[in-house]
Amino acid sequence: MKKINQRNIGHDVLPLFAERWSPRAMSGEEISDKQLMQLFEAARWAPSSYNGQPWRFLYAKKETPHWDTFFNLLIDFNKQWTKNAAVLIVVLSKKTFEHNNKPCKTHAFDTGAAWQNLALQGSTMSLVVHGMEGFDYDKAKKDLHIPDDYQVEAMIAIGKPGKKEDLPKEMQEREFPSDRKKIEEFVKEGKWE
Ligand SMILES: Cc1cc2nc3c(=O)[nH]c(=O)nc-3n(C[C@H](O)[C@H](O)[C@H](O)COP(=O)(O)O)c2cc1C
Repeated sequence: MKKINQRNIGHDVLPLFAERWSPRAMSGEEISDKQLMQLFEAARWAPSSYNGQPWRFLYAKKETPHWDTFFNLLIDFNKQWTKNAAVLIVVLSKKTFEHNNKPCKTHAFDTGAAWQNLALQGSTMSLVVHGMEGFDYDKAKKDLHIPDDYQVEAMIAIGKPGKKEDLPKEMQEREFPSDRKKIEEFVKEGKWE
C-alpha cells in the first residue's frame, strides 16, 4: 500500500489530500496579507448551489485590536495552542439565497467546500490551517454582531509551522497525521439497509 504523510492510501488520489493535516504547533510568526488573500481566493472558487456562495469569513490578525475578541471565543484547550497562530477566522454561512431570500438547503455543505479549498491551499503553501469547533458559538454571534440570517459554522487557526516540542505534553503525543475509516464503512451501493 502507498504511504503519503505516514498515511496508508488505498487508491490512487492526488497527494494533496493526504498531505493536508491539522498540526497544532505554530511558530507565532505573522503571515502576509498576500498569503491570507491566497487562502480566501481558494475558498472563492468552491462550487455552491445556484452559485449562491453562502460562505463568509471574519478574521483577526495577531497584534490587532480584533484579536482578543476572536481569541476569547475559544475553549481553554484551543487557547493553549492557538496563541501561536497568526490569524483566527470565524466561518459563517448565509442561510438564505441572495437572489430570492428563500432558504438555502446547502448553505453548510457549500461552506464546507469553501473551507476545504482554503485548507488545501494553505497546506500546499506549508501553512498550518486547523479547523475548530471548540469555541462559544453564541458568544461569537453576539460579540461579532452576526445577523440572524447567518449560521456560525466553525473557527480556523492559521499560522506558520512551529516546533512540536513547544506544545503542551498531551498535544505533542497527538501531533501526527491521523488515519481514516475504510471506504466500506461510509460508502454503500444502493439503499441504506
Ligand atoms: C469543523 C472542525 C472542527 C474541529 N475542531 C477542533 C478543535 O476544536 N480543536 C482541535 O484541536 N482540533 C479540531 N479539529 C481538528 C480535527 O480533530 C482534525 O481535522 C481531525 O482529527 C482529522 O485530522 P487531520 O485534519 O489532521 O487530517 C476540527 C476539525 C474540523 C474540520
